[in-house]
Amino acid sequence: MSFTAPIQLPGLTLDPLWYRRAVFYEVMVRSFVDSNGDGAGDLQGLVSRLDYLQWLGIDALWLPPFFNSPLRDGGYDVSDFYSILPEFGTIDEFKDLVTKAHERNMRVIIDLPLNHTSDAHEWFQASRSDPDGPFGDFYVWNDTDEKWPDIRIIFTDTEDSNWAFDSERRQFYFHRFFSHQPDLNFENPAVHEAVFEVIRYWLDMGVDGFRLDAIPYLYESDEGNGEGEPPTHEFIKTLRRMVDRDYPGRVMIAEANQWPREVAAFFGTDEEPECHMAFDFPVMPRIFYSLRSQQADELVNVLSETTDIPDGAGWGVFLRNHDELTLEMVSEEYRQAMYGWYAYDPRMRANIGIRRRLAPLLDNSRAELELAHALLFSLPGSPFLYYGDEIGMGDNIWLPDRDSSRTPMQWTPDRNAGFSSADPGKLFLPVVQSLVYHFNQVNVESQLAQSRSLLHWVRNVIHTRKAHPAFGLGDLTVLSVDNPSVLAFVRHYEGSDNPMGDSREDVLCVFSFAHNPVSATIEIPEYAGLNTYDLFGGAQFPGIGDDGRLTLTLGTQSFFWLHIAPAR
Ligand code: NOJ
Repeated sequence: MSFTAPIQLPGLTLDPLWYRRAVFYEVMVRSFVDSNGDGAGDLQGLVSRLDYLQWLGIDALWLPPFFNSPLRDGGYDVSDFYSILPEFGTIDEFKDLVTKAHERNMRVIIDLPLNHTSDAHEWFQASRSDPDGPFGDFYVWNDTDEKWPDIRIIFTDTEDSNWAFDSERRQFYFHRFFSHQPDLNFENPAVHEAVFEVIRYWLDMGVDGFRLDAIPYLYESDEGNGEGEPPTHEFIKTLRRMVDRDYPGRVMIAEANQWPREVAAFFGTDEEPECHMAFDFPVMPRIFYSLRSQQADELVNVLSETTDIPDGAGWGVFLRNHDELTLEMVSEEYRQAMYGWYAYDPRMRANIGIRRRLAPLLDNSRAELELAHALLFSLPGSPFLYYGDEIGMGDNIWLPDRDSSRTPMQWTPDRNAGFSSADPGKLFLPVVQSLVYHFNQVNVESQLAQSRSLLHWVRNVIHTRKAHPAFGLGDLTVLSVDNPSVLAFVRHYEGSDNPMGDSREDVLCVFSFAHNPVSATIEIPEYAGLNTYDLFGGAQFPGIGDDGRLTLTLGTQSFFWLHIAPAR
């Protein structure tokens, strides 16, 4: 395999912690813009909207897989890691995307599903037809399907076992996801070599990092449950050493849908780091829980538990993504409450989760959308937006599986929402035409034209966050509040790169989940006697008393971001 020469990265700022300050945007190539009228989005289409993303304030794109694939799992079923699905474009077009993104100081993160391949991959075809050949041990084969009964099934809607029988090899193969996605055998050193070669190929092409899809599941064992087994962590450490040595500045992002302590393990330690970032799966469902329970306690607990991570590491915070809103890592009682609130129609469920977009989940309530985004942009970690959520796009629960929230981006009120010039019947998925979220009303063009639209609001919050390094780099202290519906914390940062001119920045963030206006007294003794100012408009707010208390009134489901400082 020959490697392409590394390309220069013109325009990128040399900030080793860039990912801690960045605002990320998940964009499915297939769903964003169709440049050639074939009914599916493509790389050239994405390039044509980089200006829009730059205007919005996006620093990094996360692209779900765009490799060759039978597309039976949205591209997470890769049949060749070295080529691009022809309907999406070519390697040269991908390089063009990277160059044009970098010219805008925007990074490109790709998604690498390394745990498994498609059964159409030539490695698997060779493995099933030639057990003694070079690929014979590339997958996890067994004579029975009774091994590892304790390993949970993830795709409960479609699979009833993690084993499938192969009629050619006459053995069972292990698959953590769909049965057409056999797991690679990480016990085999040749698999490590093959996977490292794939990673280097894309890093050499100039990508700024990769999301490690399904990373807890690389190894299985007789003793464990196959999630985050010790050799899985060893593999990630080795990978991190290679990235730090040969590709400094590029990042590894863990997709580990685990309990808080287990997710944090994917950061490794100061001495032996693993991933630079990990998605904050613990915090996400608790945001939605708080919005309906009107109680802040679940967030208080999880924030207190997950903040202790190695230097330089950072969380990836998100509200929604291309998958179902997963409820695997919450208690049964909690899960039932979430289903009752957010998935009252069984069609809204998928596996152990909810397959809806953000705006419909929040019943299109502007107050809730703002509150949820305010949390997203001020919790510790870097925010990851999902394409279309910035305009409050709807979903289509009549489509199968997670396609419900992967419909074409709504750009204009014109044909196919401006996504494609194809015959509407040819689109890979129909555009949303529901009563509330029809593309006639919900689209980028009309929201650009209204200064008070959600799109302008989101952009404003993004730019406000980016002007205050405390959000990306600062630490977090949860405060005690006398009202259980109110969450309050301080983000604090000291450093030389504060655009506000101070070396120190302290931002008090207060959120009310109550469905009516409330008053709350916050204990904030460290800041006794200081003033508070609204971070957006600069207006002076009540001062913090000499007793270290601050009483605020908050409207229904509202928030404040307040700069704490001496009198101006
Ligand atoms: C996690 C991805 O986010 C999901 O979309 C996919 O189906 C599974 N991994 C399997 O690759």
